[in-house]
Formats: sequence, C-alpha cells, structure tokens
Amino acid sequence: MANSKKVLLTGGAGYIGSHTAVELIQQGFDVVVLDDFSRSEKRMVDGIERITGRKVVCYQGSCTDEKFLDTVFSKENFDSVIHFAAYKSVNESVQQPLLYYQNNVGSMTALLKAMEKFHVNEIIFSSSCTVYGEPDRIPVDESAPFKKAESPYGATKQMCERILEDCIQANQPLRSVSLRYFNPVGAHPSALIGELPIGTPSNLVPYVTQTAAGIRQKLTVFGNDYNTPDGSCMRDFIHVVDLAKAHVMALQKVVALENRNEVFNLGTGIGVTVLDLVKRFIKTTGIPLNYEVGPRRAGDVEKIYADPAKAANILGWRTQLSLEDSLLHAWQWEKQIRGIK
Ligand code: UD1
Repeated sequence: MANSKKVLLTGGAGYIGSHTAVELIQQGFDVVVLDDFSRSEKRMVDGIERITGRKVVCYQGSCTDEKFLDTVFSKENFDSVIHFAAYKSVNESVQQPLLYYQNNVGSMTALLKAMEKFHVNEIIFSSSCTVYGEPDRIPVDESAPFKKAESPYGATKQMCERILEDCIQANQPLRSVSLRYFNPVGAHPSALIGELPIGTPSNLVPYVTQTAAGIRQKLTVFGNDYNTPDGSCMRDFIHVVDLAKAHVMALQKVVALENRNEVFNLGTGIGVTVLDLVKRFIKTTGIPLNYEVGPRRAGDVEKIYADPAKAANILGWRTQLSLEDSLLHAWQWEKQIRGIK
C-alpha cells in the first residue's frame, strides 16, 4: 500500500495536529498520537475517531521527556514523525520565556534524539511565518531572511529550524521539511474538532467567534492606522483543513525531495485585513458582532502574506477552501462546543 507508513504526531490532539490526523487516516496512514493534554482535551481524540471511524492509538506524556519517548518509540515502529507539540502564545512567551525555550526547543531535541536512536529518519516540523518578522517584501517567499525574533515564541521556531538544519548536516539519513504556517483558522466541517483556546483567546478568529457567541462582550480591532487599505493589519488566513492536507503531501514527498532539509510557506497568497475579516464574518454567518477599534497591539507585524508558489510547484499543494468556509466552520465549531443551536 502506498500510504502504509506509521506516523507519530506529537501534539496530535492539538488544533493543527488533530486536523492532520484526520487527513492522514483518511489517506491510509497509520497514525499514533502523543500529547500531554496540557493545552488540549481528550475530546479532540474522540473527534478524530468519530470523523474517521477509526480507533486512534494515543500516548499521554510530554515530548520533552526522553524516557517517555524511548518507551513510545520502542513499542511502535515509526516511519516518520510530524512534530506539532509546542506552546504558541506570543504573550505568554514574553511573560515566561523559559517555559517556551524548555518546552518548544526541549521537545525538538528530545524528539531528534529518539529518532536517531530508533532510526526514524523523516520529520515534518510545524514552523511559522513568524520567522520572517516584518518582511521587506510581500508576498514573502522562503528565501526571505529571518529577522530578529519579536518574541521568545518566535525565537523557538527559528531555533528549531536551525536545529533541524544542523542535524541534517550531521546525520546522513535524516530528512526534514519545515512548514511555515501563516494564520491557520477555521475548523473541520463536521464541527467535531477545532481550536480550543485556553482562557481568553489572543488569536483573532477564536475571539471573533467567542464574541459572536456572547462569551466576550466586544472584539477590539488592534489599530487602524497601519499602512494598509483600511488601516488594520493584514494577514494570510488559511483554512486548517487545507493546512492539514499539506502535511500529507509533505510526508508523501519527503523521501523524494532534492534537499534533505526543506522549507515551505503554507498560506493562501491573499492578504486580508482584520476589519475585512470581521465584515466577512458578519456577512457569512449573519451574526452581528460587537467590535470597536482600539490601539495597536505591541509586537504586531503590519502586513504579511505568503508567496505559496514553492509548495504548489514542489508538493503540488494548493488551497481549496475560502475565507468564508473558514469563518463558517469556525462559527459552527464554536456553536457546537457551546451548545448553541
Ligand atoms: C501570531 C504569531 C504567529 C503565531 C500565531 C499563533 C507573530 C507576528 N505572529 O500571529 O507566528 O503562529 O500568533 O498564535 O508573532 N487581532 C485583533 N484583535 C484581537 C486579536 C487579534 O485585532 O482580539 C489582530 C492582531 O492585531 C493581528 C491579527 O488580528 O493583526 C491576527 O492576530 P493573531 O490571530 O493573534 O495572529 P498573529 O499575531 O498574526
């Protein structure tokens, strides 16, 4: 069978990990989830199982725990790893840098050690467009240089890409693909899996859906004096299912790629402003949204969107879902978890 690979998904119960698990299972891959559930819930694994109709093998523990990884790797015979397990709050990383360096960088080094020990030679890594900082040119392509990281979170993504690069140099059979996500949004169309923010969301779309659901009083749009068509920041919002599909393609192609260490942007190539997204949410869902314009948020990039040509040319990946799909699916997920009809 073409897709009989056994794949470890660290952070497989998280937002992007769970959607990728679904796509992989549907393509015939054998998926094993490893998650410490510190930032996720068991219901995500239930959701994967309900969507696919398949039982998912799941290990609970930290990806920074070398002994635990040894146990998992000795029980399972993995062909490849997709490494999602990481913390992702920019704010929290500024408050607690060590937590981020220890968890995000520590999980990468522990994982690579286990992979070396157990001769697992393929890794796909969840990176981020944050590595580019405020890019000199947009759309940004993969040749753009890393800028000084704005936050410890951003620094961990840069460091992990660097660690992969160095390990590829030193360890002959190892191959890696870093996928630089732009702004993943939306949820599975089944509304059985989606984003589960902890506490008050800092990301835009969960804040929008929680405001629409009446959990938050008002959305604040952070700034309308940027150099963009309506003055609010511009981002490249990509449906999480499209993003998940890129992981499947990366896994299918990783052995055949010319470079043993590859990077791809994952975005739509379309820049959308925050105010435009808000208006399109209201139009698509028909739900009124209480919002106001407030001051800028520290550390925000003015505008960034992807040049996704490399992923199209080499992986054959293109986005299929629209921003309207993303917003509708995010809203359906919010309604499902809140019990709103
Ligand atoms: C940030 C990180 C990104 C990371 C992602 C994951 C940077 C530059 N970007 O993306 O690398 O992967 O978080 O968490 O570090 N906004 C509002 N009101 C809100 C919330 C957000 O106006 O209540 C605006 C923000 O100012 C921003 C846009 O919406 O312009 C998107 O914000 P957000 O969803 O937090 O993502 P990024 O900051 O782009």
